[in-house]
Amino acid sequence: MKPALAMGAGPAPDAALDASGSAPGSTTAWPHRHLLDTDVLTWPQIELVLDTARHMAEIVAGERPRSTALRGVGVTNLFYEASTRTRVSFEVAARHLSADVVNVAVSGSSIEKGESLLDTMRTLEALGAKVLVIRHATSGAPYLVAREFGGSVINAGDGRHAHPTQALLDLATLLRHVPGRSLRGRKVVILGDVLHSRVARSNVWTLTAAGADVWLCGPATLVRGFEAWAAAGVGGERRFTVTTDLEAALRDADAVMALRIQKERMAAGLLPSLHEYAARFGLTRERLALAAEGCLVMHPGPMNEGIEIASDVANGPQSLVTEQVATGVAIRMAVLSLVTSVAR
Ligand code: NCD
Repeated sequence: MKPALAMGAGPAPDAALDASGSAPGSTTAWPHRHLLDTDVLTWPQIELVLDTARHMAEIVAGERPRSTALRGVGVTNLFYEASTRTRVSFEVAARHLSADVVNVAVSGSSIEKGESLLDTMRTLEALGAKVLVIRHATSGAPYLVAREFGGSVINAGDGRHAHPTQALLDLATLLRHVPGRSLRGRKVVILGDVLHSRVARSNVWTLTAAGADVWLCGPATLVRGFEAWAAAGVGGERRFTVTTDLEAALRDADAVMALRIQKERMAAGLLPSLHEYAARFGLTRERLALAAEGCLVMHPGPMNEGIEIASDVANGPQSLVTEQVATGVAIRMAVLSLVTSVAR
């Protein structure tokens, strides 16, 4: 059980939530039964997730008792790709809300026998799943499932397309550390294998919505295709910058998010070698010195230390990497409670 603080005279277990699944006092309506990407979220809806997560963080910290908001609700984690932090984070989040959590191990399930994604979904639905948290190597797979599933689908990463809860936890972490809790005009650099990164794509939506000056930087082969989006603007209006010039990107940056080199998604010929990538684009202490003083360092994990980020930077005083992971639990609790508050 949780420590003494909130027991006894403390708030009722679900004081962290009102009937709509959001933080008390909120006037923003939450319309999304699924969360498939951040592109559908308005700024007030993003703020609603962050506010709700702040209340959830009190449960995580033991300052409030576990919530019963999802008691009896089946949450199934269906991960077709490797994951440690995201899967465990969703599991911990669901347990804090008293949900019934099931983890499907792809190895050892009928998926290995060739069961289709939709058959698997129907099987899990028949077994009581009300929320499906899906990670899949194919971009768009969670959208296909969401069309047929009776409950809520949360995208935990699809191919190179989207990873909405990661972008929301990145935003929540960043906002805690910038003056005035505002990213307006702050320079945020996303560095590395942008091409294969669902994290980068979902972050471009949320960071530009927050008013940040977003820069994407990497070797030409790994930022390819983003210039057109940058020129057209996110949602047709919010501009960002794409560059291969690392110095220009890092100069006066307020935050830099290094991305993993995604060898598993990379076609031959995109990079001469990992060694060369590290030498030209690795985030080292010397390079970080180009950025604004106290520039925040982030990475969604898992990190290849010594390749996209030097160990002393990853574990240094400016690093928010561990805080990102911890923040993920409250963000996923918020998302679980919001999506399940929307009736079909
Ligand atoms: C990322 C992912 O899987 O998209 N990791 C994560 O969810 N924390 C990034 C990556 O795999 O490099």
